[in-house]
Amino acid sequence: GAPVRVDISKLAPGQLMIESWRGLPVWVYRRSPEMLSALPTLASHLRDPASENTSQQPAYAANEFRAQRPEIGIYVGICTHLGCSPTFVPELTPQPFDPEWKGGFFCPCHKSRFDLAGRVYSGVPAPTNLQVPPHRFLSDTLIEIG
Ligand code: FES
Repeated sequence: GAPVRVDISKLAPGQLMIESWRGLPVWVYRRSPEMLSALPTLASHLRDPASENTSQQPAYAANEFRAQRPEIGIYVGICTHLGCSPTFVPELTPQPFDPEWKGGFFCPCHKSRFDLAGRVYSGVPAPTNLQVPPHRFLSDTLIEIG
């Protein structure tokens, strides 16, 4: 499939857009400062907080933000369990189904939770973090995926 270009100039903090790449949904969103400061506090609840599973992201996204630019998240929007589409939950407040969970992505099929960097929580069916597609920044506001 051809690479896809995404213009993020209108993407506000906390906002998510859904693009299509190779028939897959790709989420592109801008993390707010509050979202960014929450991520480093979550490691003890996560299965692979430092992105050591190299199959799930390019080397340039193997960090706690799983991103080249900490404020911009880019993930394939497919649950790594059985392929359902998780829901974006930007609220940082604890959620009733998991008091440890501080927002991110919730898969309705079997209740897997991911944080706002696409990192999977411990004790859910999904085995790995969400996939980061290959991508590069052509400018501050233009991303090429693929
Ligand atoms: Fe997402 Fe099973 S497909 S938890």
